[in-house]
Amino acid sequence: MTKRFGSLVALDDVSLTLEPGAFHALLGENGAGKSTLVKCVIGYYTPDRGAVVLGNVGRAIRGPRDAHALGIGMVYQHFTLVPSMTVAENLSVARSDLRMVIDWAAEHRRMRDFIKDMPFKVDLTAPVSGLAAGEKQKVEILKQLYLDCRILILDEPTSVLTPGEADEILGLLREMTRAGRLSVLMITHKLREVVAFADEVTVLRRGQVAGRGRMETLAAQDLAAMMIGGTEITAPAQRIGQATGQVRLRLDGLCVENDKGHTAVKNVSLEVHAGEIVGIAGVSGNGQTDLVEVLAGQRERSAGTITVHGEPYSATSATPVCRG
Ligand SMILES: Nc1ncnc2c1ncn2[C@@H]1O[C@H](COP(=O)(O)OP(=O)(O)OP(=O)(O)O)[C@@H](O)[C@H]1O
Ligand SMILES: [Mg+2]
Repeated sequence: MTKRFGSLVALDDVSLTLEPGAFHALLGENGAGKSTLVKCVIGYYTPDRGAVVLGNVGRAIRGPRDAHALGIGMVYQHFTLVPSMTVAENLSVARSDLRMVIDWAAEHRRMRDFIKDMPFKVDLTAPVSGLAAGEKQKVEILKQLYLDCRILILDEPTSVLTPGEADEILGLLREMTRAGRLSVLMITHKLREVVAFADEVTVLRRGQVAGRGRMETLAAQDLAAMMIGGTEITAPAQRIGQATGQVRLRLDGLCVENDKGHTAVKNVSLEVHAGEIVGIAGVSGNGQTDLVEVLAGQRERSAGTITVHGEPYSATSATPVCRG
């Protein structure tokens, strides 16, 4: 596949083979071309060159409908379910052959038979709005399976999940691949997930294949080296400037809970000196938003202290304290 956006070559002659029953991970840094590749496969983009070959036959995929008809489905990072509908209603409305008048009795029978046979268990009658993120992602996957997908493409499916939820879902998917019922192509940034669940990996870097292989022969460091293009990672990062100013902001053992009451930030301590820029890095969903919300007075901390200019800081959104 080759795909250009103006003068940018987002994909440069990329080839990838997904074996039957494989759990294949697609890795790469931000902007490497991972989403562009799978969007070309699903028919969301038209590649400038290249093709999707299924079982030795080249296929014209002009849109997600064509992909579905060939048994290829996609699960996105963010949910696409209708929150006000139940799980069963969400599964039904996704069908392309849905009639104008729905025979709910028949539909429910069909669904019960379908779910009996699935490792993913969810309450069909539950409204989606009340489900936890992990359950919603299960419904997204079930929806694709209900549409008879045998090739499932997932674009960072665990970024909004806790590690426990992610492990459960990826474990169930692997069960299905091992049983030969499904082939999975999963985009992720999390090396841990690749090492724990994938059979094979393809690594993209700046639109090109930077490496590939079977996971038995690769360790997390090998994957990281392919992603960034070096042979060795020089960690930990060095401090390049020396902050000599006073401590302006200090966090001590800060703990924060998210909206669901789960621990989002656990025991974080750091200092920001005058004239210093401190970066906080983390894959989306690791508590950085909750941390900033506490600093902005939009969320309460559950433990720890914050000091600004040496004084205790306890802003609320109604009375934010703004002192430099
Ligand atoms: N619709 C578009 N128009 C123009 N440029 C685009 C478009 N979509 C993607 N790009 C560019 O193509 C490159 C590859 O983007 P892509 O989204 O495929 O990366 P990615 O590997 O999925 O990254 P991330 O991990 O951040 O999701 C990037 O430089 C991006 O800015
Ligand atoms: Mg992407």
